[in-house]
Amino acid sequence: MENKKDLLTSDNLLCFDNLPEAGFTDELEEKVRSYFSRITSNVDTFVSAFRALPSSSFASDALMEAFVLEHIGLNNESLGELAPELKDYFGTGLHIWQNPRQFAAYLRWLAQNAVDCASYLEIGSRWGGTFIATCEVLRRVCPTFKRAVAADLIRETPFIERYAAIVKSEGIEIEYFKGSSTSDAFRDMVHRVKPALSLIDGDHSLSGALKDHILIRQVSKIIVHHDISSDTCPDSTLLWNSLKQLESQMTYTEFTEQYETLPGHYFGIGVLARAGEAAAPALRPHKT
Ligand SMILES: C[S@@+](CC[C@H](N)C(=O)[O-])C[C@H]1O[C@@H](n2cnc3c(N)ncnc32)[C@H](O)[C@@H]1O
Repeated sequence: MENKKDLLTSDNLLCFDNLPEAGFTDELEEKVRSYFSRITSNVDTFVSAFRALPSSSFASDALMEAFVLEHIGLNNESLGELAPELKDYFGTGLHIWQNPRQFAAYLRWLAQNAVDCASYLEIGSRWGGTFIATCEVLRRVCPTFKRAVAADLIRETPFIERYAAIVKSEGIEIEYFKGSSTSDAFRDMVHRVKPALSLIDGDHSLSGALKDHILIRQVSKIIVHHDISSDTCPDSTLLWNSLKQLESQMTYTEFTEQYETLPGHYFGIGVLARAGEAAAPALRPHKT
């Protein structure tokens, strides 16, 4: 996998350290595009590795975590929220904005419980890595999986374009929604697609994440929230703790494990599933 170090020598330097989460200027959007256009082969490399991954790797959090690090690769933003010993993986592969330990456990949960999710929506897809990895899990475990929508305020990135091209011939349709999840057009899209599984990882303010939840709960049987146990995202953490009480018709599962070398709590993935929609053994609330 190519990584940040290779690309920082280029004439079109992209500095991830102070990249805003949204509101890119045209110039910045071009730089982002240029950076990711040069490494779209990371998508092909990941897809090949994932499809060659033996089922036994799904049996263990440790094996899956190793796969996330080696073959999915981490973002290089908000590095203070990632354990320092992971530094070789910053800015590699699909650049996912995740705690790899939590994400590995989440992917294993999906593989067992999202076996009937024909469609997926990610609000806040950014570079597209989490979106692509999730689609690959669904493709692997759910024979009816056929549609996924990535949504973000920023322009579609080359990773998502490349992935859409790869899976098109397999009958999987990838759609990109550029715009806000609070727009009328987004609401119309959600009611048209009715995603079975949705990840809410866009606006992390209380009102923003709550609005997303209110919309998504009308259609999705599995609703996933990101940054549910985060010192830097108190609003989404508060929302999650409230939803666990309020959504009493749903069961919840949390992936909040941290690295010992990093003080504090960061990221966290919370899953709400309508009773009877996820496989029975995982329905009991549990922490990993
Ligand atoms: C933390 S990043 C997402 C990371 C990505 N899900 C991943 O795992 O790699 C949050 C993204 O949400 C987008 N965003 C913020 N508010 C949004 C909104 N109202 N609608 C759609 N996207 C939004 C931002 O542009 C940003 O790219």
